[in-house]
Amino acid sequence: MWDKIEVAVEKCAKNEMKQKPDPAHLGFGKYFTDHMFRMTWSREEGWHDAKICPYQNFSMDPAALVFHYAQAIFEGMKAFKNEDGQLYFFRPEKNFERMNDSAQRMCMPRFPVDQVIRALKALVYLERDWVPTEYGSALYMRPTMIAAQPALGVQPADLYYFYVILTPVGAYYKEGFNPTKIYVSDEYTRAAKGGVGNVKAAGNYAASIYMSEIAKKEGYSQVLWLDAKEHRYVEEVGTSNIFFKFKNELVTPELSGSILPGITRDSTLKLADSFGVKAVERPVSIDEVIAGAESGDLEEAFATGTAAVISPIGELFFKGKSYIVNENKVGALSERLYTELQEIQHGEREDPFKWVMKVN
Ligand code: COI
Repeated sequence: MWDKIEVAVEKCAKNEMKQKPDPAHLGFGKYFTDHMFRMTWSREEGWHDAKICPYQNFSMDPAALVFHYAQAIFEGMKAFKNEDGQLYFFRPEKNFERMNDSAQRMCMPRFPVDQVIRALKALVYLERDWVPTEYGSALYMRPTMIAAQPALGVQPADLYYFYVILTPVGAYYKEGFNPTKIYVSDEYTRAAKGGVGNVKAAGNYAASIYMSEIAKKEGYSQVLWLDAKEHRYVEEVGTSNIFFKFKNELVTPELSGSILPGITRDSTLKLADSFGVKAVERPVSIDEVIAGAESGDLEEAFATGTAAVISPIGELFFKGKSYIVNENKVGALSERLYTELQEIQHGEREDPFKWVMKVN
């Protein structure tokens, strides 16, 4: 379907290379590596001009469609390195398939997954000295696609840029693996059915900032989003999916059309199942969660995401009242999922699901 995309390689001069950050203080998305991948799509030529090149600014027309109508999609993926220097990707084809789904929904061009993975392997190998080895850290990869054609009518563009930038990261939340405090929003919502909540459109994140700032001012790290129609069913938490461990089952909201189909969400369901934990996808109301927190039937709650990995939740604030989960401690299931997932991602545990892909 696609012609082979030739990838040119243009390396930084040694004296232009950046100083690498202290792996103990990476934070999230603060430092960017020396090189990036970029390619262009035009209606006449399709995907072309693919290259690994020095990390660089774009020069863009202020009328570019992305600046006006937010035709932008992205992904979050990670590369890992073990002590022997072996590099791994975690289920990269899943992220790129999802990105192609996002592209389709947003009327943007699809791209050849295999060829982009091949280019990404070359880029990450080139940047191998930037990949941290410590558990809890990784090289975060941010594939992005934007509409670059200058035009003011609301329309699909004739020109798109696809690029991948890389950043060594530690934990997404300042709490690290300690339980976070979550504000349940019963006023603002993230996405409605029929909208774009089930794809990774950049605008979804822009729209979430207002409520996140309210939550932060009140001392909460993230927002728990309820459904847009009834404000009753749990959808997502912050930028992640959410799980509740009740006494008899592990539950995550079913993919109702407004929830992002997370790769870590899917991996969590499969891992939990392999532990013999009954893991189900079904609607879960905030009333059920609150009742569980009060009775003790709710044993653990946690967020899952590429950035967040497994992030335990210790407190939920809903309608002016605080509910503590698992005495604000990390639960045994969260701990086991976090550890085993990281071990698989670093190539240090058997990978029965064939999730990891060797880069070098
Ligand atoms: C990820 O988990 O990788 C995401 O894309 C969320 C991001 C906004 C940090």
